[in-house]
Amino acid sequence: MSFDLPVVLGHRGARAVKTENTIEAFRYACQSAVRWVELDAMLSKDGVVMVFHDETLDRMSSLSGRLDELNADQLRKITLKTGAQIPTLAEVLDLLNEHGVCVNIEIKPSQAELARQTARRVWQVVKEKGFDDQDRLFFSSFAWEALEETMALAPHIRRGVLVEDISGDWRPAAKKVDAYSINYDADLLTPELIKEIKDGGYHLLAYTVNDPQQAKTLRSQGVEAFFCDDPVAMIKALA
Ligand code: G3P
Ligand code: MG
Repeated sequence: MSFDLPVVLGHRGARAVKTENTIEAFRYACQSAVRWVELDAMLSKDGVVMVFHDETLDRMSSLSGRLDELNADQLRKITLKTGAQIPTLAEVLDLLNEHGVCVNIEIKPSQAELARQTARRVWQVVKEKGFDDQDRLFFSSFAWEALEETMALAPHIRRGVLVEDISGDWRPAAKKVDAYSINYDADLLTPELIKEIKDGGYHLLAYTVNDPQQAKTLRSQGVEAFFCDDPVAMIKALA
């Protein structure tokens, strides 16, 4: 096997089709033609790596409060609004292993101070699950310190610097972590920026792209891959 990133990655599994970042979403992706999925990794209060996007439970459940104020066993008992549950990273990696699907783990510390710790815990789980394979895994984060940590722990695993409008200058971070890719907000990309990133020697991924026309345009400008909420639909549209 070699590292072979497809044009379409399933964003939070397949969040337009199944509840984002849940076993249902990843199972759907695994049973479809999706070869790579993206997920968000965040720590519970007791340091277990959960797969969840938001710092708070409010949007996804009928509860309110922070995810990192609850232990993993409490989080596991929560029924999300859709009836799904919050999985651990270990559970998701088991499923992906079973199906041979690859993963972009977005390290998402619930607080800036937890960036390095979150990265360390993620790496621990990845190793326990035998997912420490440079062909099947790459890391990304808006918390660039987390990427520095993964670089120290696992230099062979590729790193993607995530950029959004409030990120600031990504260039020093990309250099510091010897980034494989820049993962940029699709709506902020311009042809000039795309050229600069590519000329800098980085691969370029864009999130979140659900409009095939936007994907085609960005692709023609040099963007190589897209995080898509309905990856199956996008794969068909781009075929
Ligand atoms: O990694 C791509 C994308 O997931 C980044 O933004 O907020 O959806 O985690 P977000
Ligand atoms: Mg994400």
